Amino acid sequence: MLLSRSKGIIGLDIGSRHIKAVQLKDVKDGYQLERISVASLPPELIVDGSIIDSPRVVEAIKGLISDAAIKVKDTAIAISGHSSVIIKKISVSQMTEEELNDSIKFEAEQYVPFDIEDVNLDFQILGAAEEQNKMDVIIVAVKKDKINEYVSVVKESGLNPVIVDVDVFALANLYEISYEVKPQENIALINVGASTINMHILNGGMSVFTRYSPVGSNMHTEALQKQLAASYNDAEKLKRGESVEGVHMEDVASVLNSASEDIIAEISRSFDYYRGATNEKDINEIILSGGCAMVKDFAPLLAERIGTEVKIMEPFKNIIITEGVDKNYLKKVSPVAVVAMGLALRGVGDR
Ligand SMILES: Nc1ncnc2c1ncn2[C@@H]1O[C@H](COP(=O)(O)OP(=O)(O)OP(=O)(O)O)[C@@H](O)[C@H]1O
Ligand SMILES: [Mg+2]
Repeated sequence: MLLSRSKGIIGLDIGSRHIKAVQLKDVKDGYQLERISVASLPPELIVDGSIIDSPRVVEAIKGLISDAAIKVKDTAIAISGHSSVIIKKISVSQMTEEELNDSIKFEAEQYVPFDIEDVNLDFQILGAAEEQNKMDVIIVAVKKDKINEYVSVVKESGLNPVIVDVDVFALANLYEISYEVKPQENIALINVGASTINMHILNGGMSVFTRYSPVGSNMHTEALQKQLAASYNDAEKLKRGESVEGVHMEDVASVLNSASEDIIAEISRSFDYYRGATNEKDINEIILSGGCAMVKDFAPLLAERIGTEVKIMEPFKNIIITEGVDKNYLKKVSPVAVVAMGLALRGVGDR
């Protein structure tokens, strides 16, 4: 990672609704935010995690980089999605990291539902397993064709992709750097974007559960379009609390809340899976991020339904902000910038 230290790195989060870029630099007292920008994408360019119209995505990335006056090239990106990313906790015989590196393909093969030659594999040793002479390992398999799809648009945008991460790990990375890890506590990091929910549950800072669901705040938009006969653009405005001629705000609130209930039901199902898979019970705290966190009453409703305190993730908590960065802009984009921040921190933070 030496290459990125002096110049800094871009964390680039290519979401289906927003592309976010942040440039971070490793400085003496910590990490410094140099540049940040968020651009909207029309909804038809990236669908179900697939880049449908790559020329226009490239155009959007180029525009974003030039608007933000970002000059560095090294970039960290993330992939998400259940059809292209497999994350599993497995136990293997005790061995060194080197030995596991040599045998990971063999160990992972039975857990990955794709041809092992079609995925890039990565792993992290968690520590001794309950069973004697075994250790717990998280394996991450990402489909090569999905990586190529994203890496190509990044390259075509004139950037140099140096890290390909996974959304849920970017979230955990940001959490680790910005929050004090509480031993024993179960913390659920939940990012609800336009079309995806990424969940990562940590116990004492260690990964215990990850889950992806293909739904998100598009449910709010679609409900507004259907029930209030609003256009897509008007629905997006209404979500942000802006008024639209002929639409009553009380009607908006009730449509939003009922879509929120559906999204929360999905989150609740994920918690059921978590309980089934881990014997762990309580979630001590939910740390919410993604654009959905800004939808009126979503966070309090989530807290009420799950029965757990919900905090909105603060991606700039422990970050030095360069003078040129507009503080008001930061506030506005904060919940949608978390994945990009986690990515950039990976780039400068790996020592
Ligand atoms: N005030 C707001 N500002 C920005 N987005 C908002 C706001 N309120 C609600 N949203 C919604 O949040 C969603 C965008 O969030 P985000 O940028 O996290 O998604 P994304 O990363 O592009 O999507 P995904 O990761 O699911 O592909 C959109 O559905 C948008 O309408
Ligand atoms: Mg996203």
